[in-house]
Amino acid sequence: MPGTPAERQRAVSLAPTRVDVRLPDGGYEIVIGEGLLGGAARFLAERLPRRRAIVVSDETVARLHAPTLSRGLQAAGIATTLLTVPPGEGSKSFAEVERLVDALEALRVERSEPVLALGGGVVGDLAGFVAAVRRRGSPFVQLPTTLLAQVDSAVGGKTAINTRHGKNLVGAFHQPALVLSDVGTLASLPRREKLAGYAEMVKYGLLGNPAFFAWLERNGRAVLAGDSAALVHAVAQCCRDKAAIVARDEREMGERALLNLGHTFAHALEAEAGFGARLLHGEAVALGCVMAFELSARLGHCPTADVARVLGHFAAVGLPSRPAELGLPDFPPERLLQHMAQDKKVRDGRLTFILVRGIGQAFISRAVEAAEVAALLRSAAAA
Ligand code: NAD
Ligand code: GLY
Repeated sequence: MPGTPAERQRAVSLAPTRVDVRLPDGGYEIVIGEGLLGGAARFLAERLPRRRAIVVSDETVARLHAPTLSRGLQAAGIATTLLTVPPGEGSKSFAEVERLVDALEALRVERSEPVLALGGGVVGDLAGFVAAVRRRGSPFVQLPTTLLAQVDSAVGGKTAINTRHGKNLVGAFHQPALVLSDVGTLASLPRREKLAGYAEMVKYGLLGNPAFFAWLERNGRAVLAGDSAALVHAVAQCCRDKAAIVARDEREMGERALLNLGHTFAHALEAEAGFGARLLHGEAVALGCVMAFELSARLGHCPTADVARVLGHFAAVGLPSRPAELGLPDFPPERLLQHMAQDKKVRDGRLTFILVRGIGQAFISRAVEAAEVAALLRSAAAA
C-alpha cells in the first residue's frame, strides 16, 4: 500500500462504506472511508488505461491533498497532471471552463479519459460541467474534500457555473463515474467550512429522516470534532438518502426539490450578501432551514416544538440561526423578496417552497403567498 506510514495506518483503520446510486443507465458507486485518497489507485487504475490521471483542483486543496493522491497513484505506475483554479466561487466561470477545456485539449485527453475533481463543491461543479460539455460528454470522478461536497454536491450529477446574472445559471445534469470520499481530508478544513457542510447534513434529517436528525442530536459534536467513525456513518447516511431521491427523480421533476429545503431563503440571503466569504452557502442553508421551519409553523403546518428542537440543535453545535450570529445585518425583507422573485424555481410567477409538517416531513408547496413570506422575514428580522 502506497503513502507515508501515517497514511497507511489511517487507510487500514476503517473499512470503506459503499453506497450505490442506482439510475436507469446504470448508476455508480460512492465509496466513503478514511485514507482513501492515498489508496485511490485501487479504485481508479482500471479506469485509467493510459496510466495517467488528470486532476482538477483548487490551489488550496492541491497544496494540501494532491501530493497524497499523486504519491499513491505514482506507486501504482500512474502519473498525475494537476490543473488548478483559484479557490472560491469566482472559479465557477466561463473563463475557467475555457481555460480547462484548452488545457485538456493541449494534453490530448481522450473522450473516454476521466477527469478527477479533487476539492469542494466549486471544483466538483466546475470540473463536472467541463466533463459534461467537453467532446459532448466525458467521464469524471468526484474526490470531494469538503463536508458539503461529500454529503451533497459530489452526489447526484448537478454541475454548473455562474454567470454575471446569478449562481448556477449554466449547467448540466452529468453524473460522475465514481465518488471517493476520504473523510480524512476534512481534518484540514476550517471549522467554519465544516459547520457549513454540517448544515447540509442536518438538512437530510430535517427533510425526510427524523431518526438521522435524532442521531445527529446525539453525535453531531463528534462529527464536527472529526471522529472518523461518526463521519463515515453520517456521510454515508446522507449519501444513501440523496441517492434514493436521485434514483427516483434524477432531473428534479418532483421529489428531488425536497433537497432544496431552506434553499429559497438561502439563495436570497446569499444574493444579498454577495455570494462569497461573507455568507457561505451552508451557513445560508442553516438560516434558510430555520426560516422554512418558522414559515411552516406560521402557516400551521408544523408544531412549534419542532422549530424549538431545530433551534436547540443548531445552538448546541454552533450553527447560526440568524444573520446577526454571523455578524451580518438583518437583510431588508423587500430585498430578499426581490431576489426570491428571480429564483430559478419561480414558475408562472409563483415561488416553490419546501415546507415541513415536522422534523423529517418535508413537502413541496407552491401555495405560499408573498405576504406570508414578507411577514415571516419581518418577524425574523425583529427577533
Ligand atoms: P468550496 O469548493 O469553495 O470549498 C470551500 C473552501 O474550502 C475553499 O476555499 C477550498 O479551497 C477549501 N477547501 C476545500 N477542501 C479543503 C480541505 N480538505 N482542507 C482545507 N481547505 C479545503 O465550497 P463548498 O462549500 O465545498 O461548495 C460550495 C459550492 O458547491 C457552491 O458553488 C455551490 O453552488 C455548490 N453546490 C453544488 C451542489 C450540487 O448538487 N452540484 C450542491 C450544493 C452546493
Ligand atoms: N443539492 C440539491 C440537489 O442536488 O438536488
